[in-house]
Amino acid sequence: MTAKKILLDCDPGLDDALAILLAHGDHALELIAITTVGGNVDLANTTRNALQLREYLGLEHIPVAAGAAAPLVRPAISAAEVHGDEGLGNVVLPAARLEASVTPAVDLIVETLRASPGEIHLVATGPLTNIALALHQDPAIIDLVASFTIMGGSFTRGNATPAAEFNILADPEAAAVVFAAGWQTVMVGLDLTNQAIATHEIVERMALLGRLGNDLVVPLSTFWKDDPTGQAVHDVVAVAFVARPDLFQSRLAHVEVETTGTFTSGMTVVDFDAAVPNAIVPVALDVEGFWDYVLESYARIRL
Ligand code: BDR
Ligand code: CA
Repeated sequence: MTAKKILLDCDPGLDDALAILLAHGDHALELIAITTVGGNVDLANTTRNALQLREYLGLEHIPVAAGAAAPLVRPAISAAEVHGDEGLGNVVLPAARLEASVTPAVDLIVETLRASPGEIHLVATGPLTNIALALHQDPAIIDLVASFTIMGGSFTRGNATPAAEFNILADPEAAAVVFAAGWQTVMVGLDLTNQAIATHEIVERMALLGRLGNDLVVPLSTFWKDDPTGQAVHDVVAVAFVARPDLFQSRLAHVEVETTGTFTSGMTVVDFDAAVPNAIVPVALDVEGFWDYVLESYARIRL
């Protein structure tokens, strides 16, 4: 079976880093490029983190390209209180020797999709600014992706506000463009990802991963202490959907993004009864199967 090619647009970010590890560790996936966006922390930090992770994992052959530093129309927000000021909590990786690609992220996304029609699974785990700009540059990319999956939104509640999930709240105008683009978005929302908790028992299993566990997986999964049950690894779930949709139950829905609400800006309004769906919305996760899959994939990583 040929590996599914993934282009990951992200804002590392504790869980973005864990998502990169999954896309690398699962041999049924091939991580072909990483593009960065300002989100959890600013673009300089998310890009530096991606560059350092690339070299730590020996992935120098894949491009890392920097994208949008700010949302389409509004000022940037950050989640540094969750991810630490530099984005990877207390993880310290060696400085990267190689720089980001000279091709900007949006160009890289468009060029990569054009070069391999129907082959690339596009996954976005940060604010959707780069994806909206790529759609603006070439609306035809909607027909070039093998699939398009985001971590973002929810059909119940938010986390950044009662109504809005962080990635959508960070750039609601971009998210509105993305959901209206005419492709089918897989919306892996909080309803799912809040079930993917690195509990004490899961962290004990992570600690058995040796250097990868000590250097990265455990500290990335435990930095944010505010939830006593453990940290949700949101972005990992989006990558898992591409490889293992069998771990999910999903429904078709029409998703709209609220951009103007006084209390609801950034909310994803999910209509499961819509006649014309624009999204696949996973609604249930096999949590045990998810962790077996993720930890087995991490165990395959050779440093
Ligand atoms: C999402 O927001 C970010 O803080 C995480 O990296 C994840 O992509 C969860 O709401
Ligand atoms: Ca993220």
